[in-house]
Amino acid sequence: MMQEKTFGNLVNGEWRISRENPPLEVLSPVDGSLVGRLSSMSHTELDEAISAAKAAQKAWAAYPVYRKAQLMYRAADLLEQMAEEISECLVMEIAKDKKSAVSEVKRSADLLRYTADVGKSLHGEAIFGDSFPGGSRDKMSCVTRVPVGTVLAISPFNYPVNLAISKIGPALMGGNTVLLKPATQGAVSALMMVKAMQDAGLPAGVLNTATGLGSVIGDYIVTHKDIQFINFTGSTEVGQHISALTSMTPVIMELGGKDAAIVLEDADLDFAADNIVDGAYSYSGQRCTAVKRILALDTIADELVEKLKARVERLKTGDPREPGVTVTPLVSTKSADFVESLMRGAIQQGARLVTGGQRTGNLIQPTLLDRVTTEMDVAWVEPFGPVLPIIRVASAGEAVEIANRSEYGLQSSVFTNNLNKAYSIAAQLEVGTVQINNKPERGPDNFPFLGVKSSGMGTQGVRYSIESMTRPKAVTINLTGDE
Ligand code: NAP
Ligand code: G3H
Repeated sequence: MMQEKTFGNLVNGEWRISRENPPLEVLSPVDGSLVGRLSSMSHTELDEAISAAKAAQKAWAAYPVYRKAQLMYRAADLLEQMAEEISECLVMEIAKDKKSAVSEVKRSADLLRYTADVGKSLHGEAIFGDSFPGGSRDKMSCVTRVPVGTVLAISPFNYPVNLAISKIGPALMGGNTVLLKPATQGAVSALMMVKAMQDAGLPAGVLNTATGLGSVIGDYIVTHKDIQFINFTGSTEVGQHISALTSMTPVIMELGGKDAAIVLEDADLDFAADNIVDGAYSYSGQRCTAVKRILALDTIADELVEKLKARVERLKTGDPREPGVTVTPLVSTKSADFVESLMRGAIQQGARLVTGGQRTGNLIQPTLLDRVTTEMDVAWVEPFGPVLPIIRVASAGEAVEIANRSEYGLQSSVFTNNLNKAYSIAAQLEVGTVQINNKPERGPDNFPFLGVKSSGMGTQGVRYSIESMTRPKAVTINLTGDE
């Protein structure tokens, strides 16, 4: 796979370095060092990878389910054995702190094992016609689930291992073959994970990879005639672009978010502050499910702000190789410029800088902004960085109204000790998931995970993902009545 930090792609069971294009360099956001060189695949090479996936699919669909599961268990074990090596790569490649990097790899191994378990227990059903008016018991539909074919899995930079494996595992257990296109920043870590899957013994062609800049190879692969399903996680901008380009290709889209934490007057404010700070600043706010705004009742806002400030100021920032660091340099200068401009814009428009506000290189100090108004961009835009705006509201009704005015609808949190009130607010929020007394978060990975509005379409979560990437196949038996 690797020659002096040059990585090829897994195509039909072999690691191949591009014959046609010069390599792409992946540099570390931590210190600018070289993490690896990736192949920038040509159209011919992409065709080869997709043909390999297509050619392997029928035999893979017929491969016994318990044996597919055995491969997943083996891959999970190998992945765990590589946890140290892969997490060290994640630290340098995407500036993820070491603890979160190790946890990403271990969680991915757990996800593979759970996917194998769920895949083994999926079954079809038999339906008799006489349940429907005028129908007959002589008609019986045997409904099974069959694979959709070849799945294109496109993953983002922030979880190079987990958000690739959460697509690959369920797709493979459903009998599909896969082409993984990882984010360029994150691809080296993703390819290490793919190596573990291959070493587990996957037949050639079942899992293939495609590296190259999304802006260069993306349109070609998403519109390829032999791709039957696209499972995409990334920005709303790129998701909408793919959606506009493709026609009749089913998709799952996990996109951006602006998750609100609504804090009511009867909340346990220490508990809420702990959760919010963890939710907003872990991995420097570069999580789709990060808390990206607080909607706090006026009556408790002053007290909440003080509790948040104390916690934010205790966060350790800097080099992700240092133990205990939460906020690290952002993934690129472009991201840091964007986050800084949002922060500065809000302050110019009158937001109060409670703490933070400084930038050194691409490291933005964890920043808390109070008295943010709905006229400010930071109230609506996803920063994907460690900047948290607080909007003060007069009532729970106003909180719900502002929460729902967002173009996004991934998750929301409600902090209160009144479960009836929480449930009523949850019912009104236009999001995929409402967390009562917890920060927004994706897991546990057996739960459904989805966004509405500009946050996505389709549902992930192990069983939901397998169901999404398979379809029902009905065989109707018509008894003639003749013996
Ligand atoms: P991104 O820039 O949209 O990239 C995502 C993936 O799409 C990368 O693999 C990228 O490749 C590829 N890509 C770019 N242009 C493409 C095209 N024309 N066709 C096909 N693929 C293309 O997102 P990101 O910066 O990696 O991730 C951050 C964003 O993802 C945030 O908005 C975050 O909220 C969202 N996200 C959402 C979820 C969720 O579950 N809802 C989870 C994680 C992240 P290159 O890297 O080569 O450009
Ligand atoms: O970035 C998006 C991920 O799906 C979030 O997962 O809530 O476990 O960090 P997480």
